[in-house]
Amino acid sequence: MKVAVLNKYAKQGCDLIIMEVPVPKIEKDEVLVKVHTAGVNPLDNMIVRGEVKLIVPYAMPLVMGNEFCGTIEKMGDGVRGFSVGDRVYGRLPLKRIGAFAEYLSVSSDAIAKVPDYLSDEEATAVPLTALTALQALELLHLKAGDTVFISGGTGSFGAMAIPIAKSQGLNVITNGGASQRERVISLGVDRFIDYKTEDYAETLHDVDGVIDTLGERELQKEFGILKRGGHLVSLRGLPNGEFAKRMRMAFWKRMLFQLAGMKYDNMAARNQQHYHFIFVYEDGKGLQQVSRLFDEKRIPASIDEVFALDEVNQALKKIASGGSKGKTILRISK
Ligand SMILES: NC(=O)c1ccc[n+]([C@@H]2O[C@H](COP(=O)([O-])OP(=O)(O)OC[C@H]3O[C@@H](n4cnc5c(N)ncnc54)[C@H](OP(=O)(O)O)[C@@H]3O)[C@@H](O)[C@H]2O)c1
Repeated sequence: MKVAVLNKYAKQGCDLIIMEVPVPKIEKDEVLVKVHTAGVNPLDNMIVRGEVKLIVPYAMPLVMGNEFCGTIEKMGDGVRGFSVGDRVYGRLPLKRIGAFAEYLSVSSDAIAKVPDYLSDEEATAVPLTALTALQALELLHLKAGDTVFISGGTGSFGAMAIPIAKSQGLNVITNGGASQRERVISLGVDRFIDYKTEDYAETLHDVDGVIDTLGERELQKEFGILKRGGHLVSLRGLPNGEFAKRMRMAFWKRMLFQLAGMKYDNMAARNQQHYHFIFVYEDGKGLQQVSRLFDEKRIPASIDEVFALDEVNQALKKIASGGSKGKTILRISK
């Protein structure tokens, strides 16, 4: 089968290699999936540049790709709740990615059935960002009626996080590229701020929670609009000790990340706020919850551009160039 492989980390980025490898075997608790589509994310470029190797160290060569939609072709004896032929999707386990491939094997604990109304492309836009949204919202400890600010909500994360936050009864404020204003408003956002013409720090204050997608360049300002005692979850800042503990990392990594994230922990402590970093992990149960929500509310998924597997390097460059209108997809098979 054909796969897209990274041979070694490259700080300045590098092309993935398309090659032929055997179809993977499955364990008792795993399914073999024929991949229809795979999602291409900023995370893939970060993996190429070696930027997440302290969080997840990968052995090379590495079949790339974090999320997929496809059909179950085979199942291990211990798999329950799925059948051969089911259309499923998932964020692959952190330790074993590999969605840029014609077939993949994955634990049935990491997948969920796809809501029927979503096309393969639309479904592929869901797992990684929807799970990120669920995992971030859980750390924010908000209740219906509270206000959350999501920075950069015009990207593929916002496309999932906004409807999921709305489904929890939250007031959602976001900022981002003006060309995406109407699409983001149609997702239910309560207030949209064009980041090029309006500074949210001048008009927002005491928001109940913040989800940061921009990291270092915005974090100080984002803490500035957060209420005293509030929680901020960052997808782009530095990991801290609390993250390492939550992810049950080795003691030396806890120490390392405690030092790395100290700047933001201190920034938060000034106003009795809380800083959290997340790195989205696989969660089939969470994804089943997302599938039910999507089925019930018919939440739309935003697609940007679709490429073939052979065009994976074009897709990665497109992601790196910004201007996202939603998820970039690889169409791998029917
Ligand atoms: N830690 C995790 O587990 C995790 C999970 C998912 C995503 N992420 C990270 O979260 C970030 C967002 O992901 P994504 O998939 O949504 O990326 P994306 O699709 O590339 O979207 C980013 C959006 O942010 C907008 N933007 C850029 N600069 C901005 C600014 N200064 N203020 C407000 N908006 C701005 C962009 O608008 P224009 O470019 O059009 O101006 C674009 O619409 C990425 O860095 C990704 O790596 C992390």
